[in-house]
Amino acid sequence: MTVRVLTLVGSLRAGSHNRQLAEAAVEHAPDGVHVEIYDDLADLPFYNEDIDTTDTVPSAATHLREAVTAADAVLLCSPEYNGTIPAVLKNAIDWLSRPFGTGALQNKPTAVVGTAFGQYGGVWAQDEARKAAGIAGAKVLDSATLSIPGSGTRFAETHPRNDTEVIEGLRKVLDELTAHATAV
Ligand SMILES: Cc1cc2nc3c(=O)[nH]c(=O)nc-3n(C[C@H](O)[C@H](O)[C@H](O)COP(=O)(O)O)c2cc1C
Repeated sequence: MTVRVLTLVGSLRAGSHNRQLAEAAVEHAPDGVHVEIYDDLADLPFYNEDIDTTDTVPSAATHLREAVTAADAVLLCSPEYNGTIPAVLKNAIDWLSRPFGTGALQNKPTAVVGTAFGQYGGVWAQDEARKAAGIAGAKVLDSATLSIPGSGTRFAETHPRNDTEVIEGLRKVLDELTAHATAV
């Protein structure tokens, strides 16, 4: 059995170190784990209950909901923006939290990792992402964490895929995520 992990990245910029972290997860996933990066978060409109109806739900939201529903587990990779979660990721969680009680994140094993420029690696944002995903119904793995500080310098010359400590940390998170995904 292959466990499918969908990764949502909280930064849209082309050179995003969090995207690179997700790429490292794709490349170094343990045997039996397939990690995929969700590429279309930039297309998602801001959440608005008025358009979240059967007739009007945006195709970008349906696409995201279907992708998360099809996954066995979710890995959020996020930097920190002004001490909290970037809007792009929070917006995705909001879309995934509805319909209330049956959203795509419901009971979905979910882990949060990330890297940021500051000395704590974006831990505030990752804590907030855990909180929001949990309230949205996800089965959040509080112990499967990885916060890498100093993103701008650490990954200036080295892609995370070549950073042994990062690879080890990602594999631990993916192992834990897989254990929960297969226990569902
Ligand atoms: C709007 C904005 C706010 C930021 N706020 C923080 C912050 O609160 N803490 C922090 O450690 N880094 C902060 N940074 C720096 C980011 O951690 C850094 O740019 C990081 O590399 C962004 O992730 P990315 O490489 O995946 O795009 C901020 C960057 C931006 C653009």
